[in-house]
Amino acid sequence: MKKYLILLIASMLLSLTRTGAAEMTKEPDSAYIFAYASLKNGGRNGLHFAWSIDRKKWHAIGPEYSYVRCDYGTWGAQKRMLTPFLFYGPDSLWHAVWSVNETDGVVVHVTSKDLVYWRRQSYPILMQKENCLLPALSFDKEHGKFIVEWKSTNGGADATYYRSSTLDFKNYTPPEPVAKATFDNRHTIRLENGEENGTVHKVSWNVIKGLLQAQQQAAYEQELWSEKTADDGIRFASLKPVDVEVQIDVENKKKISDLLMGVFFEDINYAADGGLYAELVQNRDFEYRLSDKKGSDTSWHSYKAWSLKGGKGTFKIDSISPLHPNNAHYAILNIEKAGTALVNAGFDGIPLKAGERYNVSLFARNLQEKARALLIRLTDEHGKLLGEARIQAIKGNWRKYEAAISVKADATKASLEIIPQEAGEIALDMISLFPEKTFKGRKNGLRADLAQTIADLHPRFVRFPGGCVAHGDGLGNMYRWQNTIGPLEARVPQRNLWNYHQTAGLGYFEYFQFCEDIGAEPVPVVPAGVPCQNSSTGGAGQQGGVPMADMEAYIQEVLDLIEYANGDTHTVWGKKRAEAGHPKPFNLKYIGIGNEDLISDIFEERFTMIFNRVREKHPEITVIGTVGPSFEGTDYTEGWLIANKLQVPMVDEHYYQSPGWFIHNQAYYDKYDRSKAKVYLGEYAAHLPGRPSNLETALAEAIHLTSLERNGDVVSMASYAPLLAKEDHTQWKPDLIYFNNTEVKPTVSYFVQQIYGHHAGDIYLPTQIRLSNTEEAVKKRLAISVVRDTKSGDAIVKIVNLLPVSTRVALNLEPLGNISTDALKISLAGNPEDEALRPKSTPIAVTKNFKDELPAYSFTVLRFKIVD
Ligand code: AHR
Repeated sequence: MKKYLILLIASMLLSLTRTGAAEMTKEPDSAYIFAYASLKNGGRNGLHFAWSIDRKKWHAIGPEYSYVRCDYGTWGAQKRMLTPFLFYGPDSLWHAVWSVNETDGVVVHVTSKDLVYWRRQSYPILMQKENCLLPALSFDKEHGKFIVEWKSTNGGADATYYRSSTLDFKNYTPPEPVAKATFDNRHTIRLENGEENGTVHKVSWNVIKGLLQAQQQAAYEQELWSEKTADDGIRFASLKPVDVEVQIDVENKKKISDLLMGVFFEDINYAADGGLYAELVQNRDFEYRLSDKKGSDTSWHSYKAWSLKGGKGTFKIDSISPLHPNNAHYAILNIEKAGTALVNAGFDGIPLKAGERYNVSLFARNLQEKARALLIRLTDEHGKLLGEARIQAIKGNWRKYEAAISVKADATKASLEIIPQEAGEIALDMISLFPEKTFKGRKNGLRADLAQTIADLHPRFVRFPGGCVAHGDGLGNMYRWQNTIGPLEARVPQRNLWNYHQTAGLGYFEYFQFCEDIGAEPVPVVPAGVPCQNSSTGGAGQQGGVPMADMEAYIQEVLDLIEYANGDTHTVWGKKRAEAGHPKPFNLKYIGIGNEDLISDIFEERFTMIFNRVREKHPEITVIGTVGPSFEGTDYTEGWLIANKLQVPMVDEHYYQSPGWFIHNQAYYDKYDRSKAKVYLGEYAAHLPGRPSNLETALAEAIHLTSLERNGDVVSMASYAPLLAKEDHTQWKPDLIYFNNTEVKPTVSYFVQQIYGHHAGDIYLPTQIRLSNTEEAVKKRLAISVVRDTKSGDAIVKIVNLLPVSTRVALNLEPLGNISTDALKISLAGNPEDEALRPKSTPIAVTKNFKDELPAYSFTVLRFKIVD
């Protein structure tokens, strides 16, 4: 505790020195603030403030602390705040407007009561084809309207000034040209680091105090949250092993969620195609496009992963007479002399196992009169034949042909060869190779080892298909579930927002089937009628929401999904499910609407429409709303306000934070109002600089999970993110499970999730804990959770020790009743930077006064049988 007080005082003193201690002792009634944004980082650093008593000497706060940042447009390219203008309105609100870039006819408008918390942003389009620079605001008292003025350079050097009026910052009058700017009273102020341009305002000293406190609080939290085990040698220099006495309080037990531990599957890092989806042929449909990677890779097109080998012939892509309009491209092989092979290289090669069977299928159309045969071969990287099959008599119209190949030897980088047996022309599409041994032997199934690794977590639910993949990069890229069901050749492949190609072979049917196969609740997430706020195509960021005229059809799509999952076989969509091979309903209970969207008016309108209709038509379905990408901030607060207003039953929270954040935020959910929405923590992970996945991050997550169990009456579900990552195709780190074509590599975090999954409970038992060392830094690194699992009757104690010393635990088991002497101990321990640890399970003999010494940096689970 002492340490934290010292830190707080030090940080305050530091900021007093920075701002001038003498000035702070005699606080004035009022002073001046200067609001500005620097051009550093391309103008992406947000709104800063400086203050002054005399308008001569200015003190920059932070010195460049950001009070609000721009959320307009594409991540990386946009998010700029240029020339902000601050204005105090007659509505007692601070209004800020700014320009977003040099080209768009858009300004940003946002309000705040105290300059610290800023409400949702809006992005009115004031000019259709011209830019909006140097926006400024005033109020026309006579007409009771706000006036916005701006300069437009019309693409040239000559500037024209415009103005528009608004009552509500939602509707604006058409722009009127004006002779010159009338109220742009920006000033250039010299600060310590140079000159900046912005607006100056006289405010009460309390406003400045609020600004200073917000920055000091943020700096203080930053100190705490950046704590790492690398500094433990100094932080805990003289620390001795800690004694821990645990008393279990069975009287105050409470019911907690039995769905807490689940997984979130997103097609990121090649998680689906080339990953969990067992298809071994890359670009089987010849639908790869330059636009999948936004033109950044010139080899990424219909020919990707395909080549011609041997003989004499040509291979071209055509789209005149496709197999299906949704799958327009196909290959035409023109063979002059038999022996030429069309070769697929797979995803980094095709992995094969000796003695196993592989199923080939393809669509072909013979463009010659004479019927023809195809030889299908699997060869290793040296050209050695591993297995082959023949397809006879290809007809003149598109038909599907199938064959099975038994493989003679293991290979990691095999190729698939299609060899026409006579000269002539033949069209081919949807060339596919699946191992026969998919997970649970499903057709069009999943890679068995990867799927099993997920199943081994014992997840109670699976959220899918994203993530950002769900809301998509622009309106046209939103994940539309109907595009991903039915015959593979009729599904709609599309650009994966993570910069590759999505075949939709792993689609909604397969997701539902997988959930059923592993006994997990399906939790599909549909877009809330808005694409990702960071979109780069089809409108700036979230501006391109589904047009109101199309919302009815969009809502129907969401209702149809529920019918597809649950409707009986006489319904339109239930029938389609039955045709796909699953007449029984999938028993869908949850549906997510939106993924960490920017909470704007555009979002709220659409979310409300979808939510109200789903609730009205399907009160049995729990709708999960969304509250932005962080544990705090505007989207979080505004998202929760919407959830409270609409009485949304559950919201999806996301946060990726440092281990220090998890250590210092164990009480995060203790304060949650139990009468409001339940929480689904849909995405979280501990991130260290460099983004490793090691024992330190895993223990931080284990600590958080103890507090999720303690708050299991309000936190219903939680899933680490992301789940899968293929080596050499990873866009995001860390991930729970890494893999390549032949190996699966679970991380330490995986084992923490697995241990929690296997040793979950549905009753929480509070504890009283006495430590021999009560320093705050010590207390916060020891976390304990006790649950009971009603099904087995077992009591489970989880202890996380994130200290560099061992803990001697004394656990009084008396309150649990009759304990069997046979218990189980699972332990995960090592050095914080260890990345390849495995848990150890040992049967142990116990008495009612259980004592054990648990190593430094460890996670221990004790499972006790109760014999009544
Ligand atoms: O988990 C990776 C990404 O993180 C998800 O797609 C998105 O929801 C979040 O920003």
